Amino acid sequence: MANFFKAVAKPKVSNAPLTARIEKLDINGVGIARLNKKPLFIFGALPGEVVTAKIIEQKSKYARAKVITINQKSDYRVTPECQHFGLCGGCDLQMLALSEQLVFKQQKITELFSRSFSANNLAAKIEQADLPWQVPIKSEPWHYRRKARIGVQFDKNGQAIIGFRQKSTNQLAAIKSCPVLVEPLNTIFPILKKLLAQLTVKAAIGHIEVIQADVNQLANEQFASKVVLVVRQLKAMNKPDNQLWQQFAKQYAWHVIIDDGNKQTPIENAESKLSYSLSDGNKIYFASSDFIQINHQVNNAMINQALNWLSVDETDKVLDLFCGLGNFSLALAKNAKLVVGVEGVQVMVDKATHNAQVNGLTHCQFHQADLNGDWLATAWATEQAFDKVLLDPARAGAEQAVKQIAKLKIPTVLYVSCDPATLARDSAILVAQGYKIKKISLMDMFSQTKHVETMVLFTL
Ligand SMILES: C[S@@+](CC[C@H](N)C(=O)[O-])C[C@H]1O[C@@H](n2cnc3c(N)ncnc32)[C@H](O)[C@@H]1O
Repeated sequence: MANFFKAVAKPKVSNAPLTARIEKLDINGVGIARLNKKPLFIFGALPGEVVTAKIIEQKSKYARAKVITINQKSDYRVTPECQHFGLCGGCDLQMLALSEQLVFKQQKITELFSRSFSANNLAAKIEQADLPWQVPIKSEPWHYRRKARIGVQFDKNGQAIIGFRQKSTNQLAAIKSCPVLVEPLNTIFPILKKLLAQLTVKAAIGHIEVIQADVNQLANEQFASKVVLVVRQLKAMNKPDNQLWQQFAKQYAWHVIIDDGNKQTPIENAESKLSYSLSDGNKIYFASSDFIQINHQVNNAMINQALNWLSVDETDKVLDLFCGLGNFSLALAKNAKLVVGVEGVQVMVDKATHNAQVNGLTHCQFHQADLNGDWLATAWATEQAFDKVLLDPARAGAEQAVKQIAKLKIPTVLYVSCDPATLARDSAILVAQGYKIKKISLMDMFSQTKHVETMVLFTL
């Protein structure tokens, strides 16, 4: 008999409200309950709560539901501070008390380590008590963010919508103020809206990057902490619109930079330099397109903790992998015999070199390399026997880099991570090669969000 394709009927989504008790948060901070033994994900519901919810998606292995009412509230539920909570795609943990946000983040890291170590047949399972947790690094829980990309869209009537992406769509949530941005970036939205309404060519703007930075205007030798706006122009800006930006820049003391996709030009046509200062006095110059750590307070505390955990002294030769502009390298170089910084982007290598020079640090050098490639035989890796290595990779982690660190047998490794899943994977590699986890701490770089940064110290 011939075989005919027969479509499998999709499970029907019941409209009937159901009652569910939330067991825990998943690693994305979404409440998990059980529905006929299947996980039921309910956004916004907290552990211990009993909610009435409506199914919005039914799959064979899981279902998703939306809260209708909370019948039994968690003691840790707080009123979200932001008026855009629920619509805006950012800051999705602000209904949870700050202390519990940290508990959730620590549990998330523990769980990821446990999974990764079990998968690698390392110590059967790592429970919380087995990870040597240290006090978390924290900052002010609001007004901590010094850089953000604001999306710009226009509706069919030509009205500007400015803000951040809504949860799981490409549509923008129209934002009036954002309480995680540093002042005065948090209140810039209505001013930008007023400006955009007056533009003669509206569809020419892609997005606007806002940054709080020290601005050094070279022509008039003026130096001030300013709001920097980088306007991504998709078409050349005409004269009236240019004048409008100049007028607003003057009125609000902004430093406006036009980015045409190839080059960035300050609107005043005067050359300028952006920088931030660290608590040790080092000054880091950067371009608006460069990576900088978002939370200035956590960044300072993180650098201090790195120096402390590594106990760097004048006999140490230290390797700083994924060094960017030298954010860690310069602080290390103040204390070490030699620092070798390595980074993938050549212009950042050049800036790190420049930053070392202007800060008067001579015993550090910077090199370009793809650290996900094979770099073991390069001159910078073989000319020295390094005592210590700090690595601070992007979210993809440093799978290849940690394997090579282990081959070099560098005795002390400090891993700064912005993604706990890749950190757990890479930690298992180091532990399998004989490294021990000596200290671990979370760094609350992004309060009110599910994102977490971690520092781990390994020794051989
Ligand atoms: C999280 S940032 C850290 C930068 C710096 N440590 C800091 O604190 O500002 C990661 C850096 O790794 C660099 N990077 C990403 N992938 C890389 C690769 N495959 N090889 C070398 N560098 C890479 C990025 O350009 C970026 O500067």
